[in-house]
Amino acid sequence: LTKKIILASDHAAADFIQEISEYLKSTGYEATILKAETAFTYSEAADAVVSHVHASADVLGIACCGTGLGISMRANRHKGIRATLIHDAFTAEMAALHSHANIICMGSRVLTAKQACALSDIVLNTPFEGGRHIPRLEQLDAPTGEK
Ligand code: RB5
Repeated sequence: LTKKIILASDHAAADFIQEISEYLKSTGYEATILKAETAFTYSEAADAVVSHVHASADVLGIACCGTGLGISMRANRHKGIRATLIHDAFTAEMAALHSHANIICMGSRVLTAKQACALSDIVLNTPFEGGRHIPRLEQLDAPTGEK
């Protein structure tokens, strides 16, 4: 249980991440919600989580909006970020096992907070498989060729 959890959201998922954070604290994790003076937009929330993930390999980011879509799109524009949109037990397991997620994204209008807590548990308790997935993941940051 070395991982620190950093959470942020837009207005649509403020209560949702509050519940997830409280749950993770109750299970022994250090969980911190990032807040803006006025509410973050989903891109601002993604950027805030990314800055913490870039600063430490021990951080798992949890980034949420109404659907998880906008916030995952923005998070993945940053180098070194593997933000995975998860919505069920299988995608949660694969996010850790194959995709080595350093940020998980969930939608407050897709999942109940209780479901999101259970999916967070799966991610946190599933180790990365490594091996063949390492070169595949390295390719995510390869130049795409467009100008
Ligand atoms: C905000 O209404 C909503 O668009 C946002 O939370 C998110 O779902 C975008 O992907």
